[in-house]
Amino acid sequence: MSALSRALLEIDAVRSGAVITDRDVLEGYASDESEVTPRVPDALVRARTTAEVAATLRAASAHGVFVTPRASGTGRVGGAVAVQGGIVLSLEGMHEIRGIERVDLLAVVEPGVVTGQLHEAVEARGLFYPPDPNSLATCTLGGNIAAGAGGPRAFKYGVTRDHVLGLELVTGDGTILKLGKRTPKGVTGYDLTALMVGSEGTLGVVTEATLRLRSKPPEVATLLVFLADLEQIQAAIALAISSNITPRCVEMVDAIALELMRRDAGVALPEGARAMLLIELDGQGAALERDVERLGGALDDAGALEVLVAQKAGERERLWAARRELSRTLRKSANFKLSEDVVVPRSRMAELLQLCGRLAEERGIQMPTYGHAGDGNLHVNLLWDDESQRPQVDSAIRALFEAVVEMGGTLSGEHGIGALKAPYLELEQSAELIATQRRVKQVFDPKGILNPGKIFPARRGHGAC
Ligand code: LAC
Ligand code: ZN
Repeated sequence: MSALSRALLEIDAVRSGAVITDRDVLEGYASDESEVTPRVPDALVRARTTAEVAATLRAASAHGVFVTPRASGTGRVGGAVAVQGGIVLSLEGMHEIRGIERVDLLAVVEPGVVTGQLHEAVEARGLFYPPDPNSLATCTLGGNIAAGAGGPRAFKYGVTRDHVLGLELVTGDGTILKLGKRTPKGVTGYDLTALMVGSEGTLGVVTEATLRLRSKPPEVATLLVFLADLEQIQAAIALAISSNITPRCVEMVDAIALELMRRDAGVALPEGARAMLLIELDGQGAALERDVERLGGALDDAGALEVLVAQKAGERERLWAARRELSRTLRKSANFKLSEDVVVPRSRMAELLQLCGRLAEERGIQMPTYGHAGDGNLHVNLLWDDESQRPQVDSAIRALFEAVVEMGGTLSGEHGIGALKAPYLELEQSAELIATQRRVKQVFDPKGILNPGKIFPARRGHGAC
């Protein structure tokens, strides 16, 4: 009997039906929303409880079988693809919101809760969970934690990492650990909660998370700022920051992405618009109105072509729906697409945008950009139609990453490294730092079964894990 069969027998003994080997079902777990080559896993385990997750990892560890955790598979870097085969461990079935505490301002959730559903549940109680990755209608909180997801509202409120107080985690050998706390303050021991956020399923599987909430901002105002020149974005961001008003989002869209978004959002573009900023402010009543006027006026004075305020909720919803779909809309616009989520210090945004323009021209590919401009976090897309253009695409990506690191930035702001960017990790991190992280992985996953082939570059003569 193979190691896999022995592991599956032990897992099935915990709950009959948890193990699935039906080819039709497995095919649905071969890919995520990245360009990583799909791979049908050898088996699927659908966990419903922490005990089932622990049993799965104990058995897999004992028999040396790889395990790739996943929930809804909206990741952009192949994090949920079982690139080296083995078991896909699905957390979709753990989708209960276990509690929402109004005074303590926290929510306790299972990993398979869809992010947008938590938003609805807390907002119905006058509370607010700020992280809003654009796939929020389908992505899950467990995936957000694994990826260290961000989103537009990070500009004011921070990313997923800033909202995770505590975790229940199962390590690679099946040990259940309670990390962190239920209080906003707490400095006991090492901050292993922070270590787990963004660890891309390579150190453990989250089975419960305690998330920090806030009071819901009473009102929101949305500004559309049209610019004649992409490079004006730098000045506009500086303005938004120095105005002593903190917008909750400062999003940008370049001319190509704007053209696609315009159609879906029904926005009429002023003549000569080459870029748009989508700025959102939250607050209340006259104070919010004053902030909108002040910021809008300052952007006007700084040379914006037009500043519009989206007055109606319906207008705002259409705009955001089009913005949230941009990544998928772009994918449909060419035969091939790769997208990056690099970050640079926001003071170097103009340089980054110029570089993208130059690379697109030199390499003969389309490179529409959009993203979280306020955070210096840009989604740089590479679109091409002919397979033969791939070497130019790869050389553009390498040049982009080298420049980003040189500017003091980072390869990934919110999507993670996964399988797609693992070959580039060494551009940003030293050999010593990578070796230290590999040793950390050994502590939590001594048999090296968790999500192999992710984050770390493959070693010659070894697996990628
Ligand atoms: C976005 C996703 C791709 O911002 O991160 O649209
Ligand atoms: Zn994004």
